[in-house]
Amino acid sequence: MLIKFNQSMQPFSIVIHGGAGTILKEDMTDDLEKAYLQGLQDAVNAGYAVLEQGGSAANAAKAAVVILEDNVLFNAGRGSVFTKKGVQEMDAAIMDGKDLSAGAIAGVRNVRNPVELAAEVMNNSDHVFLSGKGANDFAIKHGLKLEPDEYFFSKFRYDQWKAIRDGDNYSLDHTHQDVEELLKDKKFGTVGAVACDMQGNIAAATSTGGMTNKKYGRIGDSPVIGSGTYANNKTCAISCTGHGEPFIKAVAAYDVSCLMEYKGMSLQQAMDEVTLKKISGY
Ligand code: GLY
Repeated sequence: MLIKFNQSMQPFSIVIHGGAGTILKEDMTDDLEKAYLQGLQDAVNAGYAVLEQGGSAANAAKAAVVILEDNVLFNAGRGSVFTKKGVQEMDAAIMDGKDLSAGAIAGVRNVRNPVELAAEVMNNSDHVFLSGKGANDFAIKHGLKLEPDEYFFSKFRYDQWKAIRDGDNYSLDHTHQDVEELLKDKKFGTVGAVACDMQGNIAAATSTGGMTNKKYGRIGDSPVIGSGTYANNKTCAISCTGHGEPFIKAVAAYDVSCLMEYKGMSLQQAMDEVTLKKISGY
């Protein structure tokens, strides 16, 4: 996670994540660590630049996520993990806390930047959530950039999938080859950003390839507004990462916002309530 803020007369800030979890030291070379950190830095800089020029929180969050989607190291866009069928199915969402407008897409293929497609749904359709072929057709109609399957292929992700594809197990982003190890070692590669612009508006964006070996059609929490992504100027902007199913059951992001709005909790108190007590119970 990286935070960048400006404390001028009109303060603004951006926070990004490239997924939570443990990366074991033995799996991380110096060069790889540098590449991950550079990827995060590039993303936070891209979002910050939008804010610095007076851009909206939603555009800043989107710009940061686009950079992470273009980076093969993160489980979103180009670096998305393989499904049980050996393809990539991507989910993304964006929400603007100023007016609660939102856009989300699920199970799309070959779209270079799923977060841009989610923003297109938010800004240029009467809908909030499109999935599968309908979302792909919408992408084509609206001129979103598409890429061939090869663009989304990386040996690293392929090997992760090969290690578990013959079983019913699925896993978040990982590197270990042993199935038991795979399931213990959770590296959550979903990416996301939250931002606050000069006008004081906040927004959140999340993008993911989901889980390695996930079933055809499985949708995680990331594109579900209120579960993996939520923003409301009255309370907070949230982009979640981790095993999506418990976040969906907990309606996690919205629950944090509700605890702040209706119970007057601080962000920290609400987060503790939802992540430490509620989600950990599932
Ligand atoms: N949080 C990402 C997923 O479960 O798909």
